[in-house]
Amino acid sequence: TQSYRITLLPGDGIGPEIMAVAVDVLKVVGQQQNLTFEFNEALIGGAAIDAVENPLPKQTLDACKQSDAVLLAAIGGYKWDTMPRHLRPETGLLGLRAGLELFANLRPAQILPQLIDASSLKPEVVEGVDIMVVRELTGGVYFGSPKGVFSTETGEQRGVNTMAYTVAEIDRIGRVAFETAQKRGGKLCSVDKANVLEVSQLWRDRITDLSSEYPDVELSHLYVDNAAMQLVRWPKQFDTIVTSNLFGDILSDIAAMLTGSIGMLPSASLGADGPGVFEPVHGSAPDIAGQDKANPLAQVLSVAMMLRYGLDQPAAADKVESAVLTLLAQGYRTGDIQSPGTTVLGCKAIGETLIQILNQG
Ligand code: NAD
Ligand code: IPM
Ligand code: MN
Repeated sequence: TQSYRITLLPGDGIGPEIMAVAVDVLKVVGQQQNLTFEFNEALIGGAAIDAVENPLPKQTLDACKQSDAVLLAAIGGYKWDTMPRHLRPETGLLGLRAGLELFANLRPAQILPQLIDASSLKPEVVEGVDIMVVRELTGGVYFGSPKGVFSTETGEQRGVNTMAYTVAEIDRIGRVAFETAQKRGGKLCSVDKANVLEVSQLWRDRITDLSSEYPDVELSHLYVDNAAMQLVRWPKQFDTIVTSNLFGDILSDIAAMLTGSIGMLPSASLGADGPGVFEPVHGSAPDIAGQDKANPLAQVLSVAMMLRYGLDQPAAADKVESAVLTLLAQGYRTGDIQSPGTTVLGCKAIGETLIQILNQG
């Protein structure tokens, strides 16, 4: 039996609701695949601010570092939106990514045939879409300095963030992207704003240089505004997309919606070594928190990504993913992905149904 230490970070809003489902799934799959999990729950985000006035307590980061993988739900909420920056849930999440050096964020957007009707786009546009967004996660305008709100000479306030990338930062995310494309459809589209931004020109030049090492990958470039448009116009043109932190944040939410709901999209945040963090692309959905309405499938599919990319247990990952497909094929939905003729269940009941399916299969 393989044994793994998993740090669970339920966080805020719908976080604890969807995490409960994911943990149940992990336990059942573990039993079936002869894997044991030692769970350790820790505080992050608003929950941590309320408890210890720190969105990323040292204890939490240490626990994450000592585990084999980290499963995160979501952080944030109205209550903390007006707090100073160091007391914001988002600061905790960014600290976690920086603290574990998780520079590569894989965000797959795959249209499941069962959910074609849930997309806001026409079936012929989304059918068969299978995109991997490789988002740089520890650099760019999220982390560049200087940053802050400063007083100008005239005493006016001026907000500043800096979009910056070193060659080393571009190269390491570029390599992950080329290798990802190699294992997929062999096409990589790098998205930037090189027509305006110096940092993007350096990005484009480096990615172009790197491409000579990956002759089997067909490289293209798009400006981010065009890429956003193309994702909605004809998403099937994309295979793997590589882009900077902020552009990747935006484009992955667009890609998410192709699949029918952001409640379906998992992600993996990986570094060079050490544990990865596996989390849905969506946030804490404070508008539906505590109402048993959340779609737990992005969290469940993040468990599958954890098994596949974090723990190297592809058979267990396959089990989780195929249980999700069966659930959808049987017509069960949460409200965000409902369509005529489907059965809408709450978050908990979806979880219970999924467990039944796993136990049958
Ligand atoms: P959000 O992703 O939380 O919600 C956007 C919309 O999608 C809402 O209408 C919400 O109800 C819906 N939605 C999201 N996940 C869903 C799910 N699983 N099932 C059904 N519906 C779902 O984005 P937001 O409202 O802009 O942000 C809310 C908070 O979450 C903010 O504090 C933000 O900073 C934070 N956030 C956190 C993460 C994260 O923890 N990784 C990611 C994004 C946003
Ligand atoms: C995400 C979120 C985060 C980001 C926020 C909450 C810091 O939107 O994971 O996509 O911008 O990276
Ligand atoms: Mn986001």
